[in-house]
Amino acid sequence: MKSVVILISGRGSNMRSIVEAGLDADIRAVISNRPDAGGLIYARDRGIATAVVDHREFPDRERFDRALAAEIDRHAPDLVVLAGFMRILTPGFVARYDGRMINIHPSLLPAFAGLDTHRRAIESGCRIAGVTVHFVTGELDGGPIIAQAAVPVLADDDETTLAARVLAQEHLLYPQVVRWFVSGRLALRDGRAVLAGERADGARALSVPVADE
Ligand code: GAR
Repeated sequence: MKSVVILISGRGSNMRSIVEAGLDADIRAVISNRPDAGGLIYARDRGIATAVVDHREFPDRERFDRALAAEIDRHAPDLVVLAGFMRILTPGFVARYDGRMINIHPSLLPAFAGLDTHRRAIESGCRIAGVTVHFVTGELDGGPIIAQAAVPVLADDDETTLAARVLAQEHLLYPQVVRWFVSGRLALRDGRAVLAGERADGARALSVPVADE
């Protein structure tokens, strides 16, 4: 059975969706860079090992990332899952987990990398928004796309309502991608996310139909 370590910075609802998906995987630990991350309480209550590597205790990114890697490696995971982990990672850290670290980002990448994705999508007049799961490379919110889900942007949406609609899709998409990885179907090959056994006409995307008027 493949092993997984999940990194969080906050409430951890994506971590929770993965834990509760009942995957054939050993969730070895949940690690946060913030001691007050709400998701830590949930993980502890579920009997999952937790750890905090507080970035404020390190003078620079290099040293923080080294400490974080040491904590991750104690659990020897096959897969590192970034689930709302809000840190920019150093090249050495990213290289260490090449092909076995994935991230979820609340936009249809390559649009809207970075922060405030929902506000920026609304301000840009987008009619469709969504979520992307991708392998992590040195590029912020970049890296080979594994799967996406799209939702409509409605005329009366604000950041909160759009974020909630996207988050519901995050909770479906992320466990599915982790399932693919731990069952050995998903890999990073020649800079692309490859899914074994994928039908030629299969789409690695979910979409919510827009209501007809
Ligand atoms: C999620 O919406 C996730 O996509 C986003 O942070 C939120 C974490 O929520 N991640 C990023 O913005 C990464 N660039 P959660 O803690 O409830 O899973």
